[in-house]
Amino acid sequence: MLGHLLHRRGIDSIIVENRSQQHVIDRVRAGVLEQGTVDLMNEIGVGDRLTREGLRHDGLYIAFGGDRHHLDMNALTGGRAITIYGQNEVVKDLMAARANTGRPLVFEAEDVHVDDLDSPQPIVRYTLHRERYDVRCDFIAGCDGFHGVCRPSIPPDRIQLFERVYPFGWLGILAEAAPSSDELVYSLHPRGFALFSMRSPSVTRLYLQCAPDEDADAWSDEQIWSELRARLHTNDGWQPNEGPIFQKGVTGMRSFVAEPMRYGRLFLAGDAAHIVPPTGAKGLNLAMADVYRLAAALAEFYESGSEHLLDRYSERALKRTWRAQRFSWWMTSILHRTESDTPFDYRRQMAELEYLFSSQAAMTSLAESYAGTPFEYE
Ligand code: DHB
Repeated sequence: MLGHLLHRRGIDSIIVENRSQQHVIDRVRAGVLEQGTVDLMNEIGVGDRLTREGLRHDGLYIAFGGDRHHLDMNALTGGRAITIYGQNEVVKDLMAARANTGRPLVFEAEDVHVDDLDSPQPIVRYTLHRERYDVRCDFIAGCDGFHGVCRPSIPPDRIQLFERVYPFGWLGILAEAAPSSDELVYSLHPRGFALFSMRSPSVTRLYLQCAPDEDADAWSDEQIWSELRARLHTNDGWQPNEGPIFQKGVTGMRSFVAEPMRYGRLFLAGDAAHIVPPTGAKGLNLAMADVYRLAAALAEFYESGSEHLLDRYSERALKRTWRAQRFSWWMTSILHRTESDTPFDYRRQMAELEYLFSSQAAMTSLAESYAGTPFEYE
């Protein structure tokens, strides 16, 4: 996305990726796009397939105590919605757009390093097909994820890390089954959290709270369905449709923020700078908000020589990040159970959810954060 936003301002870039193109296409990840992300895809001309195939959701359900409670996000936010469209589909569309620009996109780069970050010309070094490359740049955007090389290249005394690791993970599956609800269902159950989602009119996406180091292959399909039925079915008879499971995996959960999101001419964006637990689906959208802001700041620099927006980038991006951290932590804490929880904690969670659905103000607060605020670059 950053490469494309820069291209539209006439700014050149090289994108260096250490995985293969196929890996990037196949890797199943998030699937909920905020309105801001959808608008951005459309604005830059890569939203055609998203418009055709994305599933717009105007609300969501939260199930607890055996009942599903509906949150009318659209009515509560004055018309905002989310769209279900896989992150890897977004990436496919952006790769096609990149290919059309003819600008470089390197896959399977090895031994990637960044150097001279506090100089006016930092370097990205990598090996491709056994040849070494040193690319001198004006700026490096560290969009290389939590495990990438950029953040660890910042001197430790110039960065502060904030972290919370949760004592559980999500076992996620994709199944060939028509979604049995038009909208997502988040569920708090005495046996733990479960989530009903989807990817298309014929593919259901489901998650189960599990141990953080759970081995997905240790779960038979029947065990998975039986646990999902137990945690998701509601008194009105609703439960997910079942079908062949064709993908499964376990995701760990953490909250993480690196401050500031800049060192010299290196700017961090997305998971390189922050991780949210998946509850609330903010990760991809935060990354999009970061690069939208970064592209505007770089464009201002090339157009006028001003570093005003570059200098504000970290502070402004961190504001949005901490808001999303607060929301994702809250969604996680009201819907998950941990071993150290007492019966008090479960009653407290139930009371919180009862309150939520009894109060217009509380529902509006959830809807507002879930739908996401518009991207701004100021
Ligand atoms: C999905 C993921 C989430 O983290 C979430 O909160 C909702 C849906 C999904 O993958 O569909």
